Amino acid sequence: MSKACRSPFFYVGDKYKIIDQIRLYFPQNIDKYVEPFVGGGSSFLNAEAKEYILNDIDKNLINLHNYLRKSSNKEKVFFNNAYNKINEYNLSCSAIGNFVDPDLKKKHVKTYYAHNNKLGYLKLRDYYNCNKSDLLSLYILLIYGFNRMLRYNSIGNFNIPVGNVDFNTNVKKSLQFYFEFHRKKKVVFHNKDYKKFIKSIDFSKNDFIYLDPPYLITNSEYNKLWNEKDEKELLSLLDELNNKGVKFAISNLISTSSKTNNIFNEWAKKYKIIEISSNYISYHNNSKNEKHREVLVINYDN
Ligand SMILES: C[S@@+](CC[C@H](N)C(=O)[O-])C[C@H]1O[C@@H](n2cnc3c(N)ncnc32)[C@H](O)[C@@H]1O
Repeated sequence: MSKACRSPFFYVGDKYKIIDQIRLYFPQNIDKYVEPFVGGGSSFLNAEAKEYILNDIDKNLINLHNYLRKSSNKEKVFFNNAYNKINEYNLSCSAIGNFVDPDLKKKHVKTYYAHNNKLGYLKLRDYYNCNKSDLLSLYILLIYGFNRMLRYNSIGNFNIPVGNVDFNTNVKKSLQFYFEFHRKKKVVFHNKDYKKFIKSIDFSKNDFIYLDPPYLITNSEYNKLWNEKDEKELLSLLDELNNKGVKFAISNLISTSSKTNNIFNEWAKKYKIIEISSNYISYHNNSKNEKHREVLVINYDN
């Protein structure tokens, strides 16, 4: 198995750290790899298949995926444009040796990127909010933003504050990998509710669906709209797929130190449950490793 690669979205709640444990259980020889809750994509980027059919309800996220996918054929132009924009807004850029001034580093030992980049970041954010079709600006905001999140206010403006990060060699490498993946593979993105998306797929024998839905008992930005009704509907849709012989694997968190997802826990007993060892990090307190049980549930023999 090749080394797992990181998605250039560095998405909150991504599967990068545990993808090696998960993909061990993916079927061999997948024709269509289907992922209804694709997020930043750290799962599909580490799965072998003939083609990839991906979906997320977040329109801005899918616009960015499509923008990067199209940029894969003009990688040099993409990097030139990105570095030019980063320079235009006076942002540090470790990937090309534009480091933060040593005096500022000494003054703000743990927060020097945020101090260095705040002004330029806010200017770029104002620019993007008046020019929403400029997806390069949005990608740069994602990379320099707090927790690398995509979040908009009620009037549709991007509102993430500056983060304590910059465009470094990890970002560059993850983009290079992402571009190469898209040059080699057949990938399509959709932007629908997962039910509509799953119902639109014509599954064949060697197709496989991997699901990483919002977790009912955690509090990420994208979990806000997910409730018990959604959870039950999703699980009964999976029972329907099982009856049709479609192979699926679904990730979920069964319990934290304070909560249990009883709906998922009961449902999963019908299938094969694989325990995943992870350092699940609480959204509210990312220094605290809660006691938790994270699992992968599959409906096939592997
Ligand atoms: C746990 S994240 C997926 C993370 C992803 N596996 C990764 O590694 O980056 C869940 C995703 O589900 C999406 N989502 C939430 N509700 C949805 C819905 N009803 N239909 C489709 N996608 C939805 C969110 O936008 C979010 O990107």
